[in-house]
Amino acid sequence: MFETSGGLLTIDLNIIKSNYARLRHELGGKDCAAVVKADAYGLGLEPVSKALWQAGARSFFVALPNEGIELRNYLPEADIHILVGALPGTEEVLQDHNLIPVLNSLEQIKRWDSRGRFDIQIDTGMTRLGLPPRDLQHLPQGLKADILMSHFACADDKDHALNQHQIEAFNHATQHIAHKRASLANSSGIFLSEHAQFDLGRPGCALYGINPTPHKTNPMGNPVRLQGKIAQVHDIDTQQSVGYGATQKLQAGQKLATIALGYADGYLRSLSSQGELYINDVKVPVVGRVSMDVISIDVSGLDVAEGQWVDVIGPHNPPDLLAEKAGTIGYEILTSLGGRYQRVYKG
Ligand SMILES: Cc1ncc(COP(=O)(O)O)c(C=O)c1O
Repeated sequence: MFETSGGLLTIDLNIIKSNYARLRHELGGKDCAAVVKADAYGLGLEPVSKALWQAGARSFFVALPNEGIELRNYLPEADIHILVGALPGTEEVLQDHNLIPVLNSLEQIKRWDSRGRFDIQIDTGMTRLGLPPRDLQHLPQGLKADILMSHFACADDKDHALNQHQIEAFNHATQHIAHKRASLANSSGIFLSEHAQFDLGRPGCALYGINPTPHKTNPMGNPVRLQGKIAQVHDIDTQQSVGYGATQKLQAGQKLATIALGYADGYLRSLSSQGELYINDVKVPVVGRVSMDVISIDVSGLDVAEGQWVDVIGPHNPPDLLAEKAGTIGYEILTSLGGRYQRVYKG
């Protein structure tokens, strides 16, 4: 398999574990959960969640019941929380797998009844999931949530006015609903202030190396390395063009290499003529359009050969930088990482 794939994706679980420890440190004595939805942000639910358990995480969040059911196989003793909540008809299956729904509406609270542990989410300003504050007065008597939670809309923008508003609205909710633990902060929220942290941090992206403090140097380590294989080398001896749409012209004397990964593997098409790869620390630009299975890079003046590996994501080219060039966010780069890569886990 190693020899037959066009991309080699290496994920360093030790870096994910040390990112978890870094976040715990930031949280002082407070607890730290781990958000592992969407296949642990594309890095692999089983190896990543087992590594985080080893690092000390005991509360895990996924988006959907089917993700929780899968995770239960890997972590029989973990608290597994389901962010979309108890949607109609899923109550029994949640109970059967000992999954804890984040109840987001009065209807969900009513349907869940007293089947088992549950969380409650309050909408403090994102209008996505969670009870609107006006519903607080309609809650049944005697309710006690495991985790009372809400979610920041703009925590990555430390000066955004909505942050303080959400902290205040959440504080208000904590006084009206009985709960064991309160949780508001995602990765960026943990770094906002002590007032944003409450009892339990709920980081996702920072565990996987995305910068939770975009205004400052990234305090997290990047656990991802992606290498692409050179499929062909072209010595250009006449004026011609490269790729679909013939968008980029070539001159005699240039040298191109075709790399065996493309947008079907999550190398986004918006990186056409924008992306940069690295060959032994030398930056090489993507030329022309990204195709489904291949991209082309300009390797003029470099000694390269078919079968050689080239760095696509790595120390020079972390997901956040690639995202900036692609006009997106690091989360999308990670969750788009393709299924055709050979995956290797370190640690
Ligand atoms: C409710 C909730 N909590 C926590 C997180 C983790 O956020 P982040 O990846 O920004 O740390 C997410 C991710 O989208 C989320 O939806």
